[in-house]
Amino acid sequence: MTAGGDAPALAVRGRVLSFDDDPETAGDAAYTYLEDGAVLIEGGTITAVLDAADIPAGVEVDHYPDHLITPGFIDAHVHYPQLGVIASYGGKLIDWLNNYTFPEESRFADRDVAAAAAKLFFDELVRNGFTAAAVYCTTHPQSVDACFEEAARRGLRTVAGKVLMDRHAPDELLDTPQEAYDRSKALIGKWHGVGRSLYAITPRFAPTSSPEQLEAAGALFAEHEGVYVQSHVSEDVREIEWVERLFPEADSYLDVYDRFGLLGERALFGHGIHFSAAETARAAETGATIVHCPTSNLFLGSGLFEFRKLKGAGIPVALGTDVGGGTSMSPFATMKAAYEIARFHNDAVSPFECFYLATLGGARALHLGDRIGRLAPGYEADVTVIDPASTDLIAHRAGRAETLGELLFAQIVLADDRAIRATYGNGAKVYERDG
Ligand code: GUN
Ligand code: ZN
Repeated sequence: MTAGGDAPALAVRGRVLSFDDDPETAGDAAYTYLEDGAVLIEGGTITAVLDAADIPAGVEVDHYPDHLITPGFIDAHVHYPQLGVIASYGGKLIDWLNNYTFPEESRFADRDVAAAAAKLFFDELVRNGFTAAAVYCTTHPQSVDACFEEAARRGLRTVAGKVLMDRHAPDELLDTPQEAYDRSKALIGKWHGVGRSLYAITPRFAPTSSPEQLEAAGALFAEHEGVYVQSHVSEDVREIEWVERLFPEADSYLDVYDRFGLLGERALFGHGIHFSAAETARAAETGATIVHCPTSNLFLGSGLFEFRKLKGAGIPVALGTDVGGGTSMSPFATMKAAYEIARFHNDAVSPFECFYLATLGGARALHLGDRIGRLAPGYEADVTVIDPASTDLIAHRAGRAETLGELLFAQIVLADDRAIRATYGNGAKVYERDG
């Protein structure tokens, strides 16, 4: 179940749907749809997308009649150590972190705990049709090893990193600025660019890092070409007030990161719910990505993300589950919640835009838009097969759909992991529902 390597050519046949551009601007020209098509895969790479009639003779065919064949979904913000505290009752962000999250993450000092959690996490990931994720580990370096090892076992593209904290959390989760620097540097050397692994310098959020530790994170970002930064910003009103007290010299929450050189391309920030106009403009100017985590925002009562405003300002926006603040590992639940939050702003994220965001849009926001998120020649062969009739109700509703948009929307609103028929990572089947 590893990379495609020298595997013989494979055709994945069904109703092929892939975005080539953003439907908000490109409309119907944004996507390729083949009613009976196939994705041809050789050695982990997509070599052609063609009509089923044109599949070359002798090629092995995985045929999924009536199923949707899409790029693997991309989760741009998720915490693998938090599966044990998903669905924890009560508390907004700060209390939820102190009561549930930090005690749970303390358990990851034990390598076996980390290894078991990473296995469960990647099993769930592919069972939900995701083939790429930007993942927070814990402060413990072995939690990063466990994450990348499980990702590599499945051949999945993974951005991940060791969380940095040196204050306002239990002692066993803290390291000093120097330790954070040294340990992150060692992990970058060990994992960044190895196979499909990419490293993210991961200061958890401004309140749990001293200025010295944020400075160390900024130095790492400047010193290592192509690595990512990931953190949280402007999620919760109490959190924002706390940041104002901790960093009185900063103009805003985002400005804290700016002062330490932590903005720019490949800087991924979860949330950005309560951004001022200046923060929105600065994020756009620097090319920083904002990851919208809608189920988490609803669950923790953090606020209603202004998707259209931030995207319209030119900020690359991706979707994240943010499990365990988020309540589901499903791309469908995540897209549905993004749609619902947009409704509060009298906006709507169309089914096409939802699927774009969860595939090519997410890839572009991760600066991987030329490698993943799309079914096209030269792309890495990450493919998800969706059963559009996975329950009686969905079959009933989908049967009434007169357009592709209606069919997709029925999946967004009604589907869950039962709709994921199969998942291919780097050309190899990594999940089969009926297997
Ligand atoms: N802010 C800092 N840490 C976290 C976390 O683990 N989850 C969420 N949702 N927000 C955070
Ligand atoms: Zn998060």
